[in-house]
Amino acid sequence: MNFEIDDILIKDKFSKEDIIKLLSVEDDKQMQKIFDKAYKMKLKHIGAKSYYRGLIEFSNICIKNCFYCGIRKDSKINKYIIGEKQILEMATWAYENNYGSVTLQAGERTDKEFTDFCTKMIKEIKKLSNNELGITLALGEQTEEVYKKWKEAGGDRYLLRIETSDKELYKQLHPNDDLHSFDKRVDCIHVLRKVGFQVGTGIMVGLPNQTIESLANDILFFERMDIDMLGMGPYVVEKTTPTGKYVIDQMLNTEEEIQKRFYKALKVLAVSRLHLKDVNIAASTAMQALHPQGRELALKSGANILMPVITLKQYKESYQLYDFKQNVAEDLGHYKKVMNKHVETIGEIVGFGEWGDSPHYKKRVKK
Ligand code: 5AD
Ligand code: SF4
Repeated sequence: MNFEIDDILIKDKFSKEDIIKLLSVEDDKQMQKIFDKAYKMKLKHIGAKSYYRGLIEFSNICIKNCFYCGIRKDSKINKYIIGEKQILEMATWAYENNYGSVTLQAGERTDKEFTDFCTKMIKEIKKLSNNELGITLALGEQTEEVYKKWKEAGGDRYLLRIETSDKELYKQLHPNDDLHSFDKRVDCIHVLRKVGFQVGTGIMVGLPNQTIESLANDILFFERMDIDMLGMGPYVVEKTTPTGKYVIDQMLNTEEEIQKRFYKALKVLAVSRLHLKDVNIAASTAMQALHPQGRELALKSGANILMPVITLKQYKESYQLYDFKQNVAEDLGHYKKVMNKHVETIGEIVGFGEWGDSPHYKKRVKK
């Protein structure tokens, strides 16, 4: 086994079998070899630098009912949408604190009132920052017309996770209706690309019934879709959701299982870095949710993007996609120090005031 891993790690491109073998490694030393090699790959293509995307979760109202998500339509949480003035306050905070970019994220809504509101926010954020803040959008599936409007308003990047590239597994995790169609989601990723966004996708790792082969297919899906950015993390239980209840019932949420899920996610991240090389990869909040050093470990295994939540304190509590309370009550100044520390701990610097577009995107545009 040892020998085989070394043989695979020296390859420039992996086959599906190679990826499966790497993702199957469970020995600590062997895993560390994969993580170290992935970190080297990041140093080669990105450098010892991490970038911030201040995350503004401005609404938890969602028309969808994904079985795993804490803010799904049927959830009993307090629903909110933050007003214009406060969103712009948060963006101003990000700008004044030299964050290169902000991410506008919300539950999915497709009504005109909402999509027009987003258009306005994008324009205003560009205005208040003299066009200096990069804007990433994570606002779900929309029509081509809406995507175009948001691009023209000043949106730069768009994140739309495929969640899993396995159509059958996708069906198990979502209601069986037009609102939750796998094919439509893939189409949206194509349209985002056509409209001119830098496009990101990603998955959750450790979903019930998700196999290693399915995860290998996910990495090949990222490659096939020629994506610029990746956001992925472990699946985290939210105990009121159907998936959460199932996982708890099946005794799949023990400490041991949680640790396994964390390391599986770290492996998928590292192998994605090794296979895709020059894309931006986020160290997701979910990584930190399952491990006290989650963010550092992700950065040391190939991630180069951090997404500090800059949502105002009074709303953070209601934007819980899964059971994770850490940082909810902290103020922004404190949180900023925590983030800076993550980066310093591993001996890197933060690309303050820089956009930090992925080299993959830059090369793609030049072509
Ligand atoms: N665990 C981990 N990630 C989750 N997301 C939603 N629910 C969960 C969960 N229980 C992720 C999805 C979605 C993003 C906004 O949050 O991948 O795309
Ligand atoms: Fe809505 Fe996204 Fe949660 Fe699905 S994962 S319920 S689309 S917020």
